[in-house]
Amino acid sequence: MKHYLQFADFSADEYNYLFSRAAIIKGKFKSYEKYHPLADRTLAMIFEKASTRTRVSFEAGMYQLGGSVVHLTTGDSQLGRAEPIEDSARVISRMTDLVMIRTFGHEKIARFAEYSRVPVINGLTNEFHPCQILADIFTFIEHRGSIAGKVVAWVGDGNNMANTWLQAADLLGFTVHLSTPGGYEVDEKLAFGGRQPRAGCYKIFSNPMDACRGADLVTTDVWTSMGYEAENEARRKAFADWCVDTEMMAAAKPDALFMHCLPAHRGEEVMADVIDGPQSVVWDEAENRMHVQKALMEYLLLGRVA
Ligand code: CP
Ligand code: NVA
Repeated sequence: MKHYLQFADFSADEYNYLFSRAAIIKGKFKSYEKYHPLADRTLAMIFEKASTRTRVSFEAGMYQLGGSVVHLTTGDSQLGRAEPIEDSARVISRMTDLVMIRTFGHEKIARFAEYSRVPVINGLTNEFHPCQILADIFTFIEHRGSIAGKVVAWVGDGNNMANTWLQAADLLGFTVHLSTPGGYEVDEKLAFGGRQPRAGCYKIFSNPMDACRGADLVTTDVWTSMGYEAENEARRKAFADWCVDTEMMAAAKPDALFMHCLPAHRGEEVMADVIDGPQSVVWDEAENRMHVQKALMEYLLLGRVA
């Protein structure tokens, strides 16, 4: 049994399989072909933080695969009343086939997985967001082909998305140009789990414009992630120069793409003319969450089917 708690949990070969499988599953959806390999299977979705895309993509995706979902939040379950995570994991995984969790500290999802009888998927923690990067790379491949050898510019917070991009670059052979304000750098030890990353898989730039130079993809995220709201004012000041605008896009390659995991704040981390402009693929990126997660759920429950 496999869990999907961080990007580094799968090999490059497994990603190649998942990307090709996601394309096939997306094709079936687009041509209204019924595909119910997960009939009678149930996905439990546990949300300790808010969500639009993750909830809708997992829920709609599971129904499309013929399965069902159970939706739990901290407020409407015993999770919010201090039932031990180990007990919750043992109980929930006796009644369902797959569990997706969105929570705060990564150790919580790791502990749940340890006591779970069924595969556990990370739907975002403070440290990682692997399903999003799975969708982002699938979207890049759809538009531009293989991401190997390419340059991804990360402009903004050294957060869960940045950590996950680093793991992906290490594994899939591309380079991340990282530019974060002072005090908000990526914690490399955390990102790589103490492992030695592939030489050259990332480079650090103090000026975001330099990070964008020659990039094939420019990407950013909110200045304040969920759980860090108390730092909002300090972050607003610190991140003022880390707003992706048309000048930064002009420094990137002429055919560079723009991505944002959403939700976005126009006028903060990205200007409206970039996110709503011709280089932006954010709507494909959001839709692809569903297609890649369908491939992921199929893989975790049925293994390689093709
Ligand atoms: N990108 C993403 O995970 O969005 P939600 O917070 O809406 O799920
Ligand atoms: N970094 C953001 C991503 C939201 C999808 C957060 O953790 O809130």
